[in-house]
Amino acid sequence: MSIATISAPRGTSDVLGEQARTRSYIQQLAADLLQDAGYQRIETPTFEATQLFARGVGAATDIVSKEMYTFTDGSGRSLTLRPEGTAPVCRAYVQHGLHRRPQPVKLWYASSFYRYERAQKGRYRQFTQIGAEALGSDDPTLDAECIVLMHQLLSTFRCRNLRLRLGSLGSTATRASYTQLLQEHLRAHHASLAPEVADRIELNPLRAFDSQHPGTLAVLATAPRLLDHLQPHDLEHFRTVCALLDAASVPYEVDSTLVRGLDYYQRTVFEFTSDALGAQSGVGGGGRYDGLVQQLGGPPTPGVGWAAGIERILLAGEVQPPQPPPLELYVCVEPPTRGGDVEGTPSGGARVGRGSHHQGVAFELLLAARAARIRAEIELARRSLKGQLNQAHKRRARFAAIVGEGRPLLRDLRDGSEEQLEPQQLLTRVLAARERA
Ligand code: HAM
Repeated sequence: MSIATISAPRGTSDVLGEQARTRSYIQQLAADLLQDAGYQRIETPTFEATQLFARGVGAATDIVSKEMYTFTDGSGRSLTLRPEGTAPVCRAYVQHGLHRRPQPVKLWYASSFYRYERAQKGRYRQFTQIGAEALGSDDPTLDAECIVLMHQLLSTFRCRNLRLRLGSLGSTATRASYTQLLQEHLRAHHASLAPEVADRIELNPLRAFDSQHPGTLAVLATAPRLLDHLQPHDLEHFRTVCALLDAASVPYEVDSTLVRGLDYYQRTVFEFTSDALGAQSGVGGGGRYDGLVQQLGGPPTPGVGWAAGIERILLAGEVQPPQPPPLELYVCVEPPTRGGDVEGTPSGGARVGRGSHHQGVAFELLLAARAARIRAEIELARRSLKGQLNQAHKRRARFAAIVGEGRPLLRDLRDGSEEQLEPQQLLTRVLAARERA
């Protein structure tokens, strides 16, 4: 009877080999950029109380209404695999009293997130975001800093045809009164709208701006614009962000229809898109969420941040990690002569044969090499000596050490020369070759 094999769940993938290396490199470059800008790493739990996202992200959003991986634990608590990182960071800010630290508190993360979405290219059920959150300042310079950092990061990864869309949603009150205006407009043109847009007029009319439906687009072309309804201080804030981006030579398009799929945004919102991504054009996005910390039980605290998906960076960009440094030493072991390895003794114990002795010496040599920071590996597949040397060549090792009777033999795999050396001398020789390289 054959046993069925098990594959990774739909929308998830294993990260192997070259891809794993590229992803680590992306994270390393992000860490360097963000840490140099004063952001400190934060790690929050993979799962949180479901309530955090219901309250923080918004019950009417797609994420909360249909995309969360929610489960009940053994104690009957409702928990959810994090679908995004901003609400958890704000929860941690409140929980650890970070408002008592000098403000703003600037944090970054590289974490996995989970959304039950229809999986397709660029859209997965488990994905990884690099994100940055800055809490405790409403200075528009911080908005500009965030956007410039994200732009630098995506440019470093050479994301193709990058566009930055920038907008402002104003305050919650502005958005509420604007929402009413928009609802009136949509109701008046109800018959021309896509059915899913018409269905959401009462619940979430702003999402109409995400539609590509021709009738909806025509209705929206004559709709009132949120940017025209901003309060003077919000408009001033937005203008300052734009001026700072101009000064930083970061190109952007003001887009009064930019809506993001999370409810916590106020004032600045932005999104970087790349047409290399097709339907999933967002490489990353973010904005200001000045009310979120308070909504989660903390003191009134402004905040702004962004996140970019590593999988989308990989699709939209060209990331070439440097080649890992080559192996320097491959430790080979003379195979035991037939029947001459571990031998039984009359008392039932085992006497260690020569082969095992050589294995022990080889292992010691390996550890001494690693202690000297030599990149070394040891034979682990019981190959013949010829097979081991072939393997050393395949692994592009600089030297092979052959451990057998007497002192180990060091073979230079470039010119084939060989020399028997004491272990310490052997290591010195390998290190000297590195110096000359
Ligand atoms: P978001 O726009 O939902 O924002 O996600 C940010 C980025 O995560 C997207 O632009 C995309 O690159 C990636 N992403 C989202 N969903 C998927 C998916 N199913 N598969 C692959 N990649 C995906 C947020 O999550 C906010 N927390 C960003 C933020 C931080 N706003 C303020 N601070």
